Amino acid sequence: MCGIIGINSNRPVSSAIINSLKKLEYRGYDSAGIATLSDGTINEIKSEGRVDDLEKNSLIQTIQGSIGIGHVRWATHGLPNSVNAHPHSSQSVSVVHNGIIENSTLLKKFLVSKGHIFKSQTDTEVIVHLITENLKTLSIIDSIKKTLKALHGSFALGILFKDQPDLIVGARRGSPLAVGYGPNENYLGSDSYALKAMTNKITYLNDGEFCFIKKSNVEFFNEDGKKINKKVLELSNEEEKYEKGDYKHFMAKEIEEQPTTLKNGINEYLDTSNTDINIYNFPWKISEISSITLIGCGTAYHSCLMAKYWFEELTSLDVNIDIASEFRYRKKKLKNETLYVFVSQSGETADTYAALDLCNKNNMKTCAVVNVIESSIARESKFVLPIHCGTEIGVASTKAFLGQILILYILALKIGALKGDIEQKTFKQKIKDLKQLPNLVEQTLSIDHKIQTIANTFNDVKGSMFLGRGFSYPIAMEGALKLKELSYIHAEGYPAGEMKHGPLALIEEGLPVVVLAPRDNYYKKTISNMQEVIARGAKVLLITNKSKDEIVSENIWEKIEVETANEDLLPFLLTIPLQKLAYYSALNKGFDIDKPRNLAKSVTVE
Ligand code: G6P
Repeated sequence: MCGIIGINSNRPVSSAIINSLKKLEYRGYDSAGIATLSDGTINEIKSEGRVDDLEKNSLIQTIQGSIGIGHVRWATHGLPNSVNAHPHSSQSVSVVHNGIIENSTLLKKFLVSKGHIFKSQTDTEVIVHLITENLKTLSIIDSIKKTLKALHGSFALGILFKDQPDLIVGARRGSPLAVGYGPNENYLGSDSYALKAMTNKITYLNDGEFCFIKKSNVEFFNEDGKKINKKVLELSNEEEKYEKGDYKHFMAKEIEEQPTTLKNGINEYLDTSNTDINIYNFPWKISEISSITLIGCGTAYHSCLMAKYWFEELTSLDVNIDIASEFRYRKKKLKNETLYVFVSQSGETADTYAALDLCNKNNMKTCAVVNVIESSIARESKFVLPIHCGTEIGVASTKAFLGQILILYILALKIGALKGDIEQKTFKQKIKDLKQLPNLVEQTLSIDHKIQTIANTFNDVKGSMFLGRGFSYPIAMEGALKLKELSYIHAEGYPAGEMKHGPLALIEEGLPVVVLAPRDNYYKKTISNMQEVIARGAKVLLITNKSKDEIVSENIWEKIEVETANEDLLPFLLTIPLQKLAYYSALNKGFDIDKPRNLAKSVTVE
């Protein structure tokens, strides 16, 4: 997944392209590049690393041109170096690409046979040479049509032509792409977020469509090259300023913002008397729904896993959860009486989007739980439940996770109440308890110093394990993922009761094992599992909630106590120390916390 920007204007565009690329870094940050057109010459500058590195290139100050394209890359084909960075150019065209061309090897063979010379290891370069080849005999529009037809896989493209000083072509299949309109200039971007600093007037391309962006107008075409009209949407023109403030990292800020995330969600969905849940305009009768399938990737998948426990407890629905990249390709029967819920912070994750698309094409009931409400997943779901956590910059998701599980919990409560699966008295009590959650999270956030000290132990470890049962198991999975993402330490999240069936063999003297054992139904069982790992030499960090009762276990290495809440809400509180553990352990190691290696915030390739 990569970020694309294109600007066709009357003013020099390089600095505006660089600024937009900075906003797009959440899509990839291993290399960046820009190409502009001036006096019939394509000027291309590329650099390994961040947009800051590109900006430091002395040539960037001199790059001329009032039309140009730019790109931030997350490598799929070929090393993340400056040669493989986009744009890729021939004598006549320059291309930026997001997606994967699946038949690139075959196309490359054909193009090499025609005398084309390839410089990079990327799949993208075949697009450049294919357009160049087609332009030998065809008009621009026909060469674009022919090229797009020959490509298998997914793409969003920005294309600049040496002989066309007033044209950027945009094209999309699978990967999202937006067009923006400005005064005497027009734009192309991977999403509206990249364009928001310049315009709030946006058109989204649909699959198969392409467009011609001129300075004074934009023309849209369907895949057969037939001109089409598209709607111009007006987005809110408030550009959210989201700064780090006094925090060292966005992630630290985002962890601390979680009480606000929860307050926003609670204010949005709980009615003012705090006795009911408002979910307006739900498009289906509740009696039409007998099962729910929750789908996501990464942390969002862990939200689905968490929600499974709540939906099973609070509703009579059959509950399934799925990793989007698996769901989309499995041969399965979709069901009319199932509510398909797509969970995604960005709303742009390619696999989650494809799973949604599959359900939409089969006319299923689709619902999105997203943060970015202008995103593709939000736009194309039949119903949307926003999580309202504001911009999240840290690649490792924190506040969006709590936001997602809050909304899923609220949905489970509401469906349970509507279906009569939980009594009104219980429903109201749970709503009352939920109101306390932001404060409890706030108090739990104050356990900071102790976690910093504990994190020192993770400096030199080979690996670690995170164990939990019941409601704590999804949180153990999320805790392990956070540590992997940020500290590059192998971390395995496991159901505590399953350890004896294999993973126990990994336990050796001094291996750190984080055990989540709040005082819930599973407490005693988890404590027994904890004893089993202690007996084999593990160094156990026990995370539980405050209680009058002593813990009946000796030889625990360290203990952290979160606040106490009703059992449903403990997962929120248990998450906090795990986020902080990962944060401080990466901080100790001096790693790039907001942009961990090899990862990206929005994964727009499958
Ligand atoms: C990437 C991010 C993760 C995120 C996952 C799903 O891998 O690094 O933090 O959980 O994508 O993203 P989504 O935007 O769909 O929640």
